[in-house]
Amino acid sequence: MAKSTTRFFCTECGHEELRWLGKCPGCGQWNTFKEMKITPEGGKKGARGFASGAAGGPGRRSAPGFAGPGPQGPLQAVPLARVGSAEHERLPVEPAEVARVMGGGLVTGSVVLLGGEPGVGKSTLLTGLALWWARQGVRVLYVAGEEAPAQIRMRAERLGFAPDKEEGFAILPEVHLESLVDTLAREVADQVRQPEVTSTEGDGSDPQPRQACIAIVDSIQTLHSEHIDAFPGSPTQIKYCGGVMADFARRSGCPVFLVGHVTKTGDLAGPKLLEHMVDTVLYFEGSDGGPIRMVRAVKNRFGNTGELAVLEMRADGLVPVDQAGVLFLSARRGSEPGAAVCAVRNGSRTFLVEIQALVSASRYGTPQRVVQGVDSKRVALLAAILEKRAGLDLAGCDIFVKVAGGGRIDDPGADLAIMAALASSLRERPVPQSTLVLGEVGLTGEVRRVTDLDARLLEAGRHGFARVVMAPPAHRGKRAGGKALEIAACSSVEEGIAMALEPAAGRARGGN
Ligand code: TYD
Ligand code: MG
Repeated sequence: MAKSTTRFFCTECGHEELRWLGKCPGCGQWNTFKEMKITPEGGKKGARGFASGAAGGPGRRSAPGFAGPGPQGPLQAVPLARVGSAEHERLPVEPAEVARVMGGGLVTGSVVLLGGEPGVGKSTLLTGLALWWARQGVRVLYVAGEEAPAQIRMRAERLGFAPDKEEGFAILPEVHLESLVDTLAREVADQVRQPEVTSTEGDGSDPQPRQACIAIVDSIQTLHSEHIDAFPGSPTQIKYCGGVMADFARRSGCPVFLVGHVTKTGDLAGPKLLEHMVDTVLYFEGSDGGPIRMVRAVKNRFGNTGELAVLEMRADGLVPVDQAGVLFLSARRGSEPGAAVCAVRNGSRTFLVEIQALVSASRYGTPQRVVQGVDSKRVALLAAILEKRAGLDLAGCDIFVKVAGGGRIDDPGADLAIMAALASSLRERPVPQSTLVLGEVGLTGEVRRVTDLDARLLEAGRHGFARVVMAPPAHRGKRAGGKALEIAACSSVEEGIAMALEPAAGRARGGN
């Protein structure tokens, strides 16, 4: 009889301790520790213990029911020269917008975590991808823990597929981890055409069999392992089931998608636990409750992070957005004070983004700072620089900043535009419609050059911008995109603001 051990886990971040603690050292939350019993199976066999962090490392434990070398016995180190490259093993992905975020395709044996709020469209995206793969001759196993097969059929119809013809797409209505891994292993064995060579013991170069199988787990929160004494969706279950699925993917070569829900309050507890054991983390975000959806790669062992796919949720599924470069510009731009446009980089893409600001005298004791789509600390810092270096009096003012169209900006190249929007609102002088504002700003008020300048200017030129306020460019003259943009070079915030705003009219105010 296997002896169970007791561990304590933080329900917020999954931190593990041997004893109960009031405050979690992992996330700093109070009163979040819960006791869990862990039953390792059969002392000698010992292969089904808790898989925490086991996936991916040498000597990791076997997925239950899935054949692989056990942890016992001497291990064989593999010389780097004999390790095959994973690069050539990429399955194509359609649409290309999503393929780019995944680094160009789906790497065999990789594990992809797709996180997002309930209802944002994770199942819709994966059903669409799955049906496309099925048509390319790939066997797709959709592990449906949340929906009945009939609901998935309805979704497939909605996406324009004829379910009666989709033989390659199979649904597994199963949430019991051990049965699931057994079934998947059998399916993979049926699908995979084993190469002639049977691997010689320990030569380290066993060629991965050609893959024709993809598994989608919708969602990881519904899986349940009999070895873990906790409810499905609890941190221990998520961690264990995620580890076993990741192990399965790597050993079998069958890529696995794990869907992870993120709550409306931004609580990433469950999926966050998995980030270190998966290869790619994609986050699916909505914007302002509208139809626009963004898939962002926040981690990618096989591609760039920061890549972004822009899709629109329509009645018949998710479609890539044309003209995504100008998605974050408002229609009334140019005539009103309090807005400035900059070109921001997201992975390999450029977006023209309008930053809107409202600065008004505060009616209450403490001025408000309300920020959406930009880091609020960054805005506080930029406001302080404006006061100190450009002489703007913002101390007694409420400040509101937002990005038009519900976008989110992390690019420091938007600093000067945020400041120009603030100054524009305070002084009630608009930034002309055809002016783009670009630049990172330092604490001393100096304006710095941005990265990927040519790509930004190209996008601006393409959408009718004629003038750019920015730090002096390194090379004058040659500009990508043909049409030369007028460059208003500034080296300080004060100069930059003066160049960005329309010349003062009679109504100018603000005492600056
Ligand atoms: P869903 O993929 O079920 O979300 P998640 O898996 O992230 O919880 O998508 C849910 C919403 O998307 C639902 O409100 C209906 C809407 N939807 C469309 O607008 N068009 C479509 O073609 C589909 C399939 C769903
Ligand atoms: Mg779903």
